[in-house]
Amino acid sequence: MTTTRERWSALMIRALELAEQGRYGTSPNPMVGAVVLDSSGNVVGEGAHRRCGGEHAEVAALTVAGPRAVGGTLVVTLEPCAHHGRTAPCVDAVLAAGIRRVVIGTLDPNPLVNGAGAAKLRAAGVEVVEGIEADRCAELNYKFFHFMRHSVPYVTLKMAMTLDGKLAARGGRSRWITSEAARREGYALREEFDAVLVGVGTVLADDPRLTRHLGLNPNPALLRVVLDSHLRVSPTAMLLENRPEDVVVFCLDEAPAAARAALEGAGARVVSVGDDGQGRCDLRQVLRWLGGAGVSSLLVEGGGEVHWSFLKEGLAQRLHVFLAPLVLGGREATPAVGGAGFASPQEGVRLAVREVRRVAEDIVIVAEVGGV
Ligand SMILES: NC(=O)c1ccc[n+]([C@@H]2O[C@H](COP(=O)([O-])OP(=O)(O)OC[C@H]3O[C@@H](n4cnc5c(N)ncnc54)[C@H](OP(=O)(O)O)[C@@H]3O)[C@@H](O)[C@H]2O)c1
Repeated sequence: MTTTRERWSALMIRALELAEQGRYGTSPNPMVGAVVLDSSGNVVGEGAHRRCGGEHAEVAALTVAGPRAVGGTLVVTLEPCAHHGRTAPCVDAVLAAGIRRVVIGTLDPNPLVNGAGAAKLRAAGVEVVEGIEADRCAELNYKFFHFMRHSVPYVTLKMAMTLDGKLAARGGRSRWITSEAARREGYALREEFDAVLVGVGTVLADDPRLTRHLGLNPNPALLRVVLDSHLRVSPTAMLLENRPEDVVVFCLDEAPAAARAALEGAGARVVSVGDDGQGRCDLRQVLRWLGGAGVSSLLVEGGGEVHWSFLKEGLAQRLHVFLAPLVLGGREATPAVGGAGFASPQEGVRLAVREVRRVAEDIVIVAEVGGV
């Protein structure tokens, strides 16, 4: 016989599956899934938040349930909201539907909610059960949780490297180190993040577009960011060919005015930030600017110098590495992480490995910075 808590867990896992429907569409909102039970405990409605501005999961599930929700239970991965955002408060919809019990995965770290939804439900006489599958529910929205707590984007460094740790061959050519399947996974990641960032070295070497091309995210707008202290990016770079208004180039105050005017003329936004002490863009200011622009997650796509800066400054939370069974060698070939390097293993950045798997002939390693 299963206990009530086990039943809630099983239903929460189903709600987590439903939430996956929003993986590419909800940002900067969280992914949420919900299941509605009638007063006898039968599942009568399921729903997910699929895209930002769209119906919330609770409302979607309650709509399916209709009058069968009266006296029933709502199981939801994230605390229902109690404030007016892009849609009306979900708590009101829950109360109007006649729900008697709400089972919540995690509280919403959004300062506008954070316990207020649960409190409003309790005040209205609804039984609230919290913390069912809490870790999995928090992990589902790790980028959103980080943004709500810190007001700067969650940063993942994505790198495709050889077994000997190179991002490119001697001379700078990097197409292609990994298999097509690995590159596809890399492009899918791009659809999950609000913005991508590269250093000017990568723009000069590869002339990338950095666009989304898999069509997974219904929102075509992806903010593309370049760190370019002295504005060496050409106004004819491929990056600026389509949707140049989605390109932000960060530079220092002393960057040449003519280069700024040329990039702005091509449609890009040019933003000057302070010096990081090494004559380069101050990453903390860059992240604060992006956070202020509503960017909740940032995928850093190279190159080695930029990876080093994020890691050295403690500003990256995760690494998503594609490791190819290929050796390029070369003391001058771009390393996955460049910079001056640390002086001892003790000073290095320790990672907690979350995932190791194969994709075609390559190996994927996902690791968190400063984990266990
Ligand atoms: N395999 C892969 O996944 C992959 C991905 C990307 C790139 N790549 C390869 O990597 C190579 C380029 O890498 P790279 O290391 O030479 O260059 P990079 O990291 O792309 O760009 C570094 C440059 O960015 C500018 N920058 C501005 N602010 C910075 C900051 N705070 N920290 C670091 N850099 C900052 C600096 O130039 P200024 O001082 O002029 O601003 C710096 O030299 C190319 O060969 C490319 O093909 C491979």
